[in-house]
Amino acid sequence: MCGIVGYVGNKNAQDFLISGLRRLEYRGYDSAGIVSLDGNGEPTLLRAKGKISNLEEKLAKNKREDKIGIGHTRWATHGEPSEVNAHPHRAGKIFLVHNGIIENYKELKEQLKKSHEFKSETDTEVLAALINSFYGDGKYPLLNAVVQALKLVKGTYGIAVVSTDLPDEIVVARSGSPLVIGVGNDETLIASDASALVGHTKKAIYLNDGEVAVVTKNNINIKTLNAEPVSAKVEEIETNLSAIQKGEYEHFLLKEIMEQPESLIETLRGRVNVETGTVRLGGPGLTNEELRQIKHLVIVGCGTAYHAGLLAMYYIEQFAPEISIETVIASEYRYRQAYIPKDSVALIVSQSGETADTLACLRGIKKQGIKTIGIVNAIGSTIAREVDGGTYVHVGPEISVASTKAFTSQVVAMVMFGLTIAQAKGVKPGILRPYVEEIAKLPEEISRVLTEMKEPIKEIANKYIKYDHAIYLGRDVAYPTVMEGALKLKEVAYVDANAYAFGELKHGPLSLIDDRFFEMALILDGELYDKTVSNTQEVLARGGHIVAITNVAGFDLPAEDVVKITTDLKIFVPILMNLIMQLFAYYVTVAKGYNVDQPRNLAKSVTVE
Ligand code: M6R
Repeated sequence: MCGIVGYVGNKNAQDFLISGLRRLEYRGYDSAGIVSLDGNGEPTLLRAKGKISNLEEKLAKNKREDKIGIGHTRWATHGEPSEVNAHPHRAGKIFLVHNGIIENYKELKEQLKKSHEFKSETDTEVLAALINSFYGDGKYPLLNAVVQALKLVKGTYGIAVVSTDLPDEIVVARSGSPLVIGVGNDETLIASDASALVGHTKKAIYLNDGEVAVVTKNNINIKTLNAEPVSAKVEEIETNLSAIQKGEYEHFLLKEIMEQPESLIETLRGRVNVETGTVRLGGPGLTNEELRQIKHLVIVGCGTAYHAGLLAMYYIEQFAPEISIETVIASEYRYRQAYIPKDSVALIVSQSGETADTLACLRGIKKQGIKTIGIVNAIGSTIAREVDGGTYVHVGPEISVASTKAFTSQVVAMVMFGLTIAQAKGVKPGILRPYVEEIAKLPEEISRVLTEMKEPIKEIANKYIKYDHAIYLGRDVAYPTVMEGALKLKEVAYVDANAYAFGELKHGPLSLIDDRFFEMALILDGELYDKTVSNTQEVLARGGHIVAITNVAGFDLPAEDVVKITTDLKIFVPILMNLIMQLFAYYVTVAKGYNVDQPRNLAKSVTVE
């Protein structure tokens, strides 16, 4: 949520700032700004409402050769998206960019009003004024001014600060909002997400909460807010350029949907043994004895990560019946007084590894002495660093705001974790083997379904762009799957799409069925098939407009559209059905002409509560 960049070195700072902001635009895109300083500290401040392209237009008329600067792309929290609310914010000689929320900004603002004339409605300008109140005429070191100010602040922040007195240093700090320092040759780069650094350096230092650093082109000096020195750990950035570019695709969303066979292969690499019918996850770091002791799982996530947790729960319950599982929404769970038995393990699910609510749950659960295992994608992210153990899903950068490839791999990674527990508990290999075999087959099946279905789904999607309302329906494992399908359509195509368990229809939602709605129904072969068909008929009898996705060859209900999936898989068919719903959401949105990668009001990584 919001993106920060910074540069100090020998090259053109404005160039890096703009290209960095472009890479981070998916984190927030309602306004953006940069400030650069020339050798005398003379600032050039450029800010624009809307996309980075608007900022670029301003930059074209204000090109400088400055070698230091900071920039920001915003997802508005305090104050509407506008130029005056865009970062960097100025107070006296200092400029500040900020991710996060200053919770006590109102009281601070009251005190600072006497010395600073506020121009914006933001909490960030309050922090700028606060730092400036300590910095004053510049006799007090900038680092000390920043530290003094941060000690008075309640809330979360990742910040970068420059002063017109100091055209060779940037002060950065973090608490609850990520900040990465890129170590280059005669240059130091700052970003809130390592993807902005790709192609510039492979070496990165991830700042921890409560740390502050002074960076120059050749020096990085990190301390805690209490002035204790910190020895920096330099880590390697593994991402390459092609992973963060669209390549042959028009949109990141389509690229990320289509790359699921490869991204899932990365999730499975070295973890699945079809010959023995077993899986092996090194990351959780639990001994067989510890795995045997597990009686409860709590799965925590938000949005798509939550849905992945729900679907994994349905699967794990099938083969590890002596474990109770609760899958919870992080934003609720963090405030519940839930008792977690000691023989529990918590799975913390997050693509970005930075989601504020999920992180808060992780910290709360750890405090109760419960083991936490991360199911995370972003390497080096806060959640990945704070969990006791974890399994990276390794799907590579997910840039489109709508999560797709992460979902598939999160489900499979969690099922593999469940299988690991079941293996340790001595569940009969004959029960577990079909899961392992199907997991191994999934990448190929995903590839086939995507290739065969892409064009037909595009055609079907075009017929449904007229609907503003949709009901998504499924039973059993198809129920969490339709929750995910509905979220996708809702967030990118702005369709009021809601998911219901098929069996719940008669308890209320059935009264909604009319010509304003279409219904997406997942109809799985198996034990509940006949019941699902009856439910579908009930909708048809009331004039429903059904798109049925099914793996039943002889399915012959008069749905408006029927998408038949041919597959040998029996267990993980919902994952294939979800691909159809991902493609459907993508094509509906493209046909409507909306920005499919950056839906309105949203941002990729939700680092505020
Ligand atoms: O990075 P996380 O997995 O923690 O993000 C959780 C949700 O914010 C995320 O899945 C969100 O719901 C997506 N936009 C859904 O497509």
